[in-house]
Amino acid sequence: MLSVVGELLLESLGENANSLLAWELAEPELLHRLTARVDSLSWIEDDLTRLQAGDGLRGEQRAFPAEREWELVLLRLSKDRERGRRMLAWAAAHLSDDGELHFAGENQRGIKGFGKTLRALFEEVENVSRGHCRLWRCRRPLAVSTPPTEPEAAYEVEGIGTIYTQPGVFSWKRLDRGTEALLHWLPNDYTDLRVLDLGCGAGVLALTMAKHGAGEVVAVDSSALAVESARRTLADYPNATVLASDVGDDLADSFDIVISNLPVHEGTQPTHRLGERFIEASHRLLSDDGELWVVYQERLPFEETLQRYFSEIDWLDAPRGYTVARAVKG
Ligand SMILES: C[S@@+](CC[C@H](N)C(=O)[O-])C[C@H]1O[C@@H](n2cnc3c(N)ncnc32)[C@H](O)[C@@H]1O
Repeated sequence: MLSVVGELLLESLGENANSLLAWELAEPELLHRLTARVDSLSWIEDDLTRLQAGDGLRGEQRAFPAEREWELVLLRLSKDRERGRRMLAWAAAHLSDDGELHFAGENQRGIKGFGKTLRALFEEVENVSRGHCRLWRCRRPLAVSTPPTEPEAAYEVEGIGTIYTQPGVFSWKRLDRGTEALLHWLPNDYTDLRVLDLGCGAGVLALTMAKHGAGEVVAVDSSALAVESARRTLADYPNATVLASDVGDDLADSFDIVISNLPVHEGTQPTHRLGERFIEASHRLLSDDGELWVVYQERLPFEETLQRYFSEIDWLDAPRGYTVARAVKG
């Protein structure tokens, strides 16, 4: 069944869309119906797991689309507002003269508040609402400059280095408090160790291990934005590899250390399941006496999962709201 956002996007299609960009629509039913109606459809998602959920549909993992002109761009509201603005500016800069952008989302996620941004990008902006959702229909793009599509924001972490990020990456403006709590406890020496940063975001934990002598660093994340950012953060370390991966599913190697700040959302939905998969995967990927260093929000029920997989666990002091642990496989 289509979501209301999906219905709005499908109904807005009209007859004349020949080259359509489906950008982060993340709804297989909608994509199937679009494919049946449009000759040439390109589907891209930043997050690998959304492509995998695509039910046989062919899409590409990309943070931004291929550089070309589009007749119709269908876009779903992104969870990060600044990322959303950049996507809109990118679309405006890449539409054909008679091209259209259809941008939809839920009111509770802030879709209504995009009117001003859209009017700065397009001469004609209309909207249609249904239930708690809205679709903005935009025509006649104004001349706008293309937004940056590379990781160009940066923050410094004392004693570790520069973290390159961009909107849409986890905690892209500053070091996350959970990550900071974990950094406080991490070892200072990884000489000759093979280490994994699981869910690396912009790569702060991977950089910490690279900086402190790790023999080989692997960092994985399901988001293309995160992978690009972490690659830039780790650019000076030839022994570091950053890969797009769903919880390290495609890794077979054994690591001496896995470090992770566990995710608590799948897309925009809060979930425990993803953190549990991170813990299971860490156990699978660690060598026999390997260690998992982990931080998570303390309200989350990961204590039991950690105890199920790991023989020895140290619960370390952390600021209120966070749990930090070192778990040995044994
Ligand atoms: C809490 S953030 C931590 C990011 C980074 N390690 C830090 O400390 O700043 C969790 C990360 O897990 C990534 N993630 C979410 N689902 C994933 C999946 N299925 N596979 C791999 N990474 C995933 C997110 O994109 C996000 O970057």
